[in-house]
Amino acid sequence: MSDWIRIAAVEDVPPGTGRELTAAGRVVALFNVEGQFYALDGVCPHAGGPLGEGRLSGRVVTCPWHGWQFDVTSGRHCLNANITHTAFPVRVEDGQVLVELPT
Ligand code: FES
Repeated sequence: MSDWIRIAAVEDVPPGTGRELTAAGRVVALFNVEGQFYALDGVCPHAGGPLGEGRLSGRVVTCPWHGWQFDVTSGRHCLNANITHTAFPVRVEDGQVLVELPT
């Protein structure tokens, strides 16, 4: 089961940035890549760092704790093909960003 949950307004996350947000008891890292929104589990799989607070460069976010890098459009680790972080579907409706989260 899953639900679409409003997580932010479009203007809350300008292009080229990310934010750490919470919804349905989860930490979600929301990113805006040239106007397209992408959401990852906000807890870095390495050691729990805040991915939503990482620097976004193009479509790659760098975890602020130890520098692991992920493609935010897929959740794939940039150096280790065996690591794919959880990504959530995102859609925009009426200026609001909705994320589909497991319930
Ligand atoms: S916690 Fe993210 S790289 Fe270590």
